[in-house]
Amino acid sequence: MKNGDVSHGRRRFLVGATAAVGGVGVVGAAVPFVASWNPSAKAEAAGAPVTVNIEKVEPGQQITVAWRGKPVWIIRRTEEMLSNIEQLNDKVRDPQSVEPQQPEYASDVYRSVKPEFAVLVGLCTHLGCVPSYRPDVAPADLGEEWLGGLFCPCHGSRYDMAGRVYLSQPAPLNLEVPPYRYDDEMVITLGLDPEAA
Ligand code: FES
Repeated sequence: MKNGDVSHGRRRFLVGATAAVGGVGVVGAAVPFVASWNPSAKAEAAGAPVTVNIEKVEPGQQITVAWRGKPVWIIRRTEEMLSNIEQLNDKVRDPQSVEPQQPEYASDVYRSVKPEFAVLVGLCTHLGCVPSYRPDVAPADLGEEWLGGLFCPCHGSRYDMAGRVYLSQPAPLNLEVPPYRYDDEMVITLGLDPEAA
């Protein structure tokens, strides 16, 4: 990992922390550290819903929220990212989200309630490693055809920006989409379905 990646990750953590609502923890990779000061960590681990203010998440940025002991990613997708998802429909294993890896209200190609924000459990469906957020297009290590997505460093599984796994990867399924709803235009609660659902 380059130094730049570390500082970018720290920036994401800081933005995520300020985006928390009501003392609910929004954390980066350092979950054990955050658990020591987060008064609601126990409630989260037990499965309580987690409310997150997402207005400070910048386009192209990803934050991580702890929910039920799992990292949940919220990614603010740009127009380019959304168009790249469409382009990958014939390169991913389950483009229309037929497998039950998401609630019904998030089962289109974008796998989200609203296209702009992806909400995904950040655990690889192969053996549970945490994939890396790789929004860069055509980086040297992932090749010219890489249009941005999530890359699992353990055994190389590739996912697009909707968490859809590419064909012929070790991972058998798309990333999980947790239940969530919008309480407001920029406030999401993880663990609760939309009232209409
Ligand atoms: S755990 Fe991700 S590819 Fe194996």
